[in-house]
Parts: sequence; C-alpha cells; structure tokens
Amino acid sequence: MGYKDIYDRFISAIHRGDLKPGERAPSIRSLAQELGVAKKTVESAYDILIGEGYLVSRGPRGTVVNPDLVIDSAYWNQSPTRLEDPDLRTVVDLRDTRGFFQLGIPSLDEFPYKKWLLLSGKAVRSMTYEDMNYPPVMGHLPLRQAIANYLSISRGVNCTADQVFITNGYNSSLRLILEAMASSSDKVVFEEPGYFFGQKLLERRGQNLHYAPVDSEGVNVDFLETHHNDAKLVIITPSHQSPLTVSLSLPRRHQLLNWAQERRAWVIEDDYDGEFHFSRKNIPSLKSLDVFDRVIYVGTFSKTIMPSLRTAYVVIPKALIPQFYETAEIVETGLPLLPQRILESFISSGAFFKHLKRMRSLYESRRRMVRDAFIEIYGDFFDMPLQNGGMHIVAFLKHGAQDRELCHIWQSHNLQVLPLSMCYAQKKHRKYGLVIGYTNIKSKQEAISALRLPYQQTLELL
Ligand SMILES: Cc1ncc(COP(=O)(O)O)c(C=O)c1O
Repeated sequence: MGYKDIYDRFISAIHRGDLKPGERAPSIRSLAQELGVAKKTVESAYDILIGEGYLVSRGPRGTVVNPDLVIDSAYWNQSPTRLEDPDLRTVVDLRDTRGFFQLGIPSLDEFPYKKWLLLSGKAVRSMTYEDMNYPPVMGHLPLRQAIANYLSISRGVNCTADQVFITNGYNSSLRLILEAMASSSDKVVFEEPGYFFGQKLLERRGQNLHYAPVDSEGVNVDFLETHHNDAKLVIITPSHQSPLTVSLSLPRRHQLLNWAQERRAWVIEDDYDGEFHFSRKNIPSLKSLDVFDRVIYVGTFSKTIMPSLRTAYVVIPKALIPQFYETAEIVETGLPLLPQRILESFISSGAFFKHLKRMRSLYESRRRMVRDAFIEIYGDFFDMPLQNGGMHIVAFLKHGAQDRELCHIWQSHNLQVLPLSMCYAQKKHRKYGLVIGYTNIKSKQEAISALRLPYQQTLELL
C-alpha cells in the first residue's frame, strides 16, 4: 500500500461522512502500524491532505479533519465531466490536482504567512468607505507604484506607475494586450515549444498565429527575420524559456530589439519566473535593454508569492498608454481592492525582497536535490541538463516518444509532471520528455520515495 492509497481512503471516508469535520485522525505511528507500512508513507499522505485543507495539524495534540471543511454530499454521486481533447485533459487535470512535482508553484511551505497575516489584518482594519467603492480598472495606484519601484530595482525595468496595469493573471494580461492592439488577422508569433495556455488562448481567439523555433540560445531571431517580417506581436519568455528554461543570449536580445524597431513590431516579454536565476550574474530583463520602447513587459505574482492571489501586471510602452487606458475602461473591471492593498504593503515593507532572496537560495538547492534524485533512479532513460534558472527542470527522453503515456502513469501516482511534447504545436520539431516542478519537494528522500512509485511501470513502458 502506497501513500496514494491512504490518501484516497481518507478522501472517500471524509466525503462519505465516515470522518467528520473536527474528528481526530489516527496518529501517524499507529496508522502505519495498523496498515503495516512505513511511517513515511503515512506522513506523505497526511502532508498532501493537510496541504489540500482536508486535515489540520494541531501539533502535539494530533491531526484532525479540518473543522471548517464543507462537504458537498452531491460530490460523491456526480460523474466527472469528460473532456474530449487529450491535451486539455492532461492540463486541466494538472491545474486541478495538487501533487508531487507540480509545475510553477512556489514553495508554499516556506511562505511568510505570519507576516502576510499581520499585513492583512492591518489592511482590513484601515479600510475606509472610499475603499468599498468600485476599484480602479488599471489597479490600485500605490500597488502600481510599488511594482514600478520593484521592477526598476530588481528587473532593470524603468517605468512609472501609469505604465503599470494590474491584471488577474497571464491570460488576462494577454487578453488585454490583444484587445488593445491586435485584430485577429494580425500576425502573432509564439515560441515553439511554448507555454501551453498562451498557445491555446491564441488559437481559441482565431489569431493569425505562427511559430518560431527555440534552440539553446532561446528563440531563433534569424528565423523571425526570414519568415515573419510582417509580425505585429512576438510573445517570448527570454529569462527562462517556457518550457526549455534556456535564457535568450545577449546577441539575440539586441538582434530582436533592433528587428522590432525596424519592422515596427512589438515584443511581449513574459518574465514569469525571471526572479529565479541561480548563476552568479542575475539575468536582466529584455525590457531593461529596450531603448526603443518596443517591449511590453508581463509579470506575475503567481511564482513569487502564490498563484491563488491571481495578481499579475503589464508594463505598457509610453506610446501605447492612451489606447490601453481606453481599452481597459471598457473591457476590465478591476481587481478586488483588499488583496491589492495587502500586496502593496508586503512589497513596500521590504518583506517581498526578503522572501525572494530566501526563495532564490532554497530553489537552487531543491532543484539540485531533485535532479540528483531523478538521475539516480532514471539516469539511464533521460538527459536532464540544468540551465541557469527557472522553477522547473526538463528531463529529455533519450529514446522514444512516449512522454504522454508516461505522464498518464506518473499522474496516476499523483506525480504531476507534464509531457514536453505537449508544448509543441507542430509535430516536426517535437521533442519528448518530462517537465518537472521541484519547488515543493522538501528532501532528497521525499523525492526518491515519490520517484520510485512509478518505477516498475516506467521500466515496462520504456
Ligand atoms: C510561461 C508562463 N507564463 C506565465 C505564467 C503565469 O500565469 P499566471 O499569472 O496566470 O499564474 C505561467 C505560469 O505557470 C507560465 O508558466
């Protein structure tokens, strides 16, 4: 019996009402004895159940079913909605299920909750009648100011608060940009491979969508010059390419900016995890080199703080400010004010910088530890080169193309890895492998135990 079986038993017992909110769960030791498994196995199941909010640890007083848990009895009887598109099914599963190796999630165990709680309390207590009115559609001005300050210090982006628009995530940033500046017939170039959700959004919009290949120096700018001189927008991830994690080389950065200026194209820089670069030299953003003001910079707090905050931002070139204001007034509604005020005080108090610094060194060590564990077990089947940064690692299959089948197996063990091939829109350039998030793995032992779960099935498949 593995931790997943124990996890499943708890979930069904809780949903069936056999275990009620507030009721005590057995101690790890006694349950391990009862089931004849290692303490670690029960501990892993409890960790996930606690992380998902089903159980609450009361320290020495043991673990109980979360007293605030609301159980929907219809849950158990409903049949899950079936998605036809296998690509979407994998990703929707990924977004909905929490598990080991989940991609792009910050180390939630290390978040400074006490500080956040303190600042939240202060923000709530200082609410005024004014704060209960409609929030500004471009975002809370002090937060926009704090982001502008942060970006100029940390990412070399010189901008003023009126260039910063707050959105509720990457998709909403991209939708705002497209709404403000592109009709569906305008040519948009996306990276190949690239960020799955961005690609799907553009496809769904019926955008005139094309691709530019990525190699070890990032997106191939020669290819852009040869094939896409008429592009209006180019969407790239220069700091750590998504998903390959390579950084766009300096010569290519200059080549791209000159090209954009010459062709009157706009570059969207998606700097989703640029903060987490581990080589001695911190990587500056592409925007910091943008003397022509052709780069629209997109950032998010999903990676630096927490995804549930649903807060991201766009930095608009000065020439585009009026058309963005006009668009936002019509298509945006603004974000809830309170979380914006909490976030603003988190940044302005210095807690954000402190947190980033801690996370940078934590991620560097967790990344190496997960890689070592992976190579120890699966080194015969995969190459796993480490780039200079990023919140995930790519394991390339040495032979074969069965990364999707492999992911289905791994996901059945609650290992939420992503097939690399899914990030390619076109078959001809496709590479195969696993994209693995490492940030929430706390020890090498934990990594090894999790990685061993699908070992036999992986061997049989490969
Ligand atoms: C390439 C890329 N861009 C942007 C984002 C940020 O998305 P959001 O701000 O919606 O959380 C992610 C998150 O995983 C990502 O992988």
